[in-house]
Amino acid sequence: GAVGKGGHRHFMLKEIYEQPAVIGDSLRTFLDPARGTIEMKEMPFDPGRLTRMLIVACGTSAYAGMVAKYWIEQLARLPVDVDVASEFRYRDTPLTAGEVAVFISQSGETADTLAAMRHARAGGVVTIAVVNVPESSMAREADLVLRTKAGPEIGVASTKAFTCQLVTLVCLAISLGRARGTIDTARDQKLTQAIAEVPSRVADVLNNDGRMRSIAESLVHVTGVLYVGRGTAFPIALEGALKFKEISYIHAEAYAAGELKHGPIALIDDGLPVVALAPSGPLFDKTASNIEEIVARRGRVILITDEAGAARLSDLVAEVVVLPTVDPVVAPLLYALPVQLLAYHTAVLKGTDVDQPRNLAKSVTVE
Ligand code: G6P
Repeated sequence: GAVGKGGHRHFMLKEIYEQPAVIGDSLRTFLDPARGTIEMKEMPFDPGRLTRMLIVACGTSAYAGMVAKYWIEQLARLPVDVDVASEFRYRDTPLTAGEVAVFISQSGETADTLAAMRHARAGGVVTIAVVNVPESSMAREADLVLRTKAGPEIGVASTKAFTCQLVTLVCLAISLGRARGTIDTARDQKLTQAIAEVPSRVADVLNNDGRMRSIAESLVHVTGVLYVGRGTAFPIALEGALKFKEISYIHAEAYAAGELKHGPIALIDDGLPVVALAPSGPLFDKTASNIEEIVARRGRVILITDEAGAARLSDLVAEVVVLPTVDPVVAPLLYALPVQLLAYHTAVLKGTDVDQPRNLAKSVTVE
């Protein structure tokens, strides 16, 4: 049937607000509430024998893949190569029969991703599809399908499909880690608990909507925005910059915070807003010193952090957005939302066609 906007002005905002529910739906595929464990059905390969994993996707789905690389490497001690599909399929990269590749796609029909999957299968690679549309080509052709339960996504700029991909991928990382013996029981239980709480923490994050709207008012007339983060906050910075440019038509780019000194720091002055994503965790101090370097050059920092981060840096920065404190592993699931809202409100204030941005398509089924 037809999907309505549910009282929201745009599909994109409706879809942003659906995230607590649909992340929960996606999680329930893997989380056994009775046993309090994350279970993944029989994998068509032996996780203990893998020496690497490939992840291939396009656009926002490729950024979900980048977050997954950090998770799988950290939790399952398995090296991961992430590629955008248009590069993977034409690079003539050596493939080994029996190795495993994950293809991530909301639509399951993106031409480059589908062709990359067929190319990998032809090379004897075991294919896993993380897809939102169950009757899609990729869902039909993959050796294993991990379905996200985002429901129909209408807004061209992906939001809820992305966070549903993330929660599915963190379950994959934990399942791989358990199978490979790289996560001890105590860590497994703590992580499972943190993941089970994500839907309600994500609902808490939505309380910052008004705050993101008022920050957006200060961005309508800028010529560019820089996003920075480290660890899993780096791919979230990339996704934030993508969201921002595709619907506001204002240039945005993202850098790993540690790379600032190798170029983009030359851009910093009081005219360039910098969105810094800095959850508490092992990398916080490193990001904090990058923020200090930006402020020392009169950069206007919009800091997205938690209470401890705010206590440490709020005197330095122009704006602070305080998110719930969570296990650093699940932080990207929360930090994805304020950057969606920032892009959304900036685009609305600029008067662009938020749900149908110029030159873009929801699903790119031709090359
Ligand atoms: C298009 C959409 C993006 C999406 C990308 C990949 O560019 O506008 O939002 O991330 O395709 O789509 P997929 O369906 O494969 O996830």
